[in-house]
Amino acid sequence: MATGVFFVPDPDLLVMERASPYNLFINSSAVEGRDHFVKIFPIGDTLTKADYIQLKQKYQQVYISEIERGAYLRAICQYFGKSEAEKVQILKSSALHHLDSIFNVKTDEVSVDIINQTLDGTRQTVEGFVELLKGYELNQLHELIGSLSFHDFYTYDHSINVSMYCILIYKLSTPDASPDQIINAGMGGFLHDIGKIKIPNKILNKVGRLTDEEFLEIQRHPTFGKEFLSQRGVKGPKGANVDLIRDVVYQHHENFDGTGYPTRLKGEEIEFLARVTAIADFFDAITTKRSYAEALSVEEALNLMKKSRAKKIDPRIFDSFLLHMTEKYHEKESNLVLADDFDPCQPHVKLKRTG
Ligand SMILES: [Fe+2]
Ligand SMILES: [Fe+2]
Repeated sequence: MATGVFFVPDPDLLVMERASPYNLFINSSAVEGRDHFVKIFPIGDTLTKADYIQLKQKYQQVYISEIERGAYLRAICQYFGKSEAEKVQILKSSALHHLDSIFNVKTDEVSVDIINQTLDGTRQTVEGFVELLKGYELNQLHELIGSLSFHDFYTYDHSINVSMYCILIYKLSTPDASPDQIINAGMGGFLHDIGKIKIPNKILNKVGRLTDEEFLEIQRHPTFGKEFLSQRGVKGPKGANVDLIRDVVYQHHENFDGTGYPTRLKGEEIEFLARVTAIADFFDAITTKRSYAEALSVEEALNLMKKSRAKKIDPRIFDSFLLHMTEKYHEKESNLVLADDFDPCQPHVKLKRTG
C-alpha cells in the first residue's frame, strides 16, 4: 500500500499514448476515511485511452502522489500546448504548494520525512524552472517575474524568484555546468531561506524596522536551515547534492569581505553557489514590488549593487551578471544608501537617498 497524500488529476490533462511521466494510483477502499492507495500504472508505461476508460469504470478515479505533482505539472506544460505565461503560472503554483507544505508545519514537526519530501518536490519544481528558462536571457527574467501574480507571504515569492535567478546566474558563470549542477543551483536558491520556518511570523511579517533582538532572531535562519538539512536520514533525490544545498542555506548571508553572518567567512571561503545565491537574493529583494516597499528599477538596483561589489558580493560573479543585464543598465552614481541592517531576506528597511 502506498502512503502519503494523493490528488485527482484533470482527466483532460493526463498523459496518454506515450510513456507516463508519473505513477497512477487507485483507491481500493470503499470506506470513507480509510483510503488504501495502490499503484496501478507505473511510471514509464504507456497508458492508452482504452486503459484509462477501463480504470475509470472499475475504480471511478485515478490518483497521483503529491510528491509527483511537479512531474504532472511539467507534463502539462510539455504536452498540452500551454502559452509561456500559463506554463510559468502552473510551475509557480507547484512551487507554492511545496513551500506551503513545509512552511505550514509546526516547528517541532519538521521531520526527516518532511524534509525529504520537500527535497523531492523541490527538485521536480526546479527541473521545471530549468526547462522553462532555457529560452530566457537574464535580462528578460526580471520581466517574467514581474508578470507573475504574487503571494502575500514575501518568503514564498522570494524563494521562487531567487531560484530562477540562481539558475541563470550559475549558468552564466559556469558555462560547462552539467544539468544536475544547474538543478542544484536552483534548489539552493529555492531553499535558501528554509530556516525561516523557525522564525515567528510576527517577526517575518513585521512592517518597518526590526528591534535589535528581532534582527538577531532573524539572523539565526541560516543556522536553523542547516540544522534541518543536517538531520540523520536526510537524503535528496538522485542527482541532488544535499551537502552543497546545505552550504548555500548556511552561507547565503556571508559577505565577500568577511562582514556577514553567521561565521564571517570571506571571499572564496564562501561556497561559490552561496555567492551566486547572495547576488540573486540581493537583486530580488530590491527589485520586487511589495506592499510596503518601493521596487527599484533594474538600473537603479544594479547601480546600488555596484556599491557593494567586493564588499557584500563577489565582484567577478557580479560583473558577469552585470554584463548580461546591459540592455537595462547604464552606469550612474547611485544616491541610494544601503543601511547597515539591510538584509535581503528581510528587506523591511526602506532604502534612503542622499542629496
Ligand atoms: Fe536569508
Ligand atoms: Fe532570501
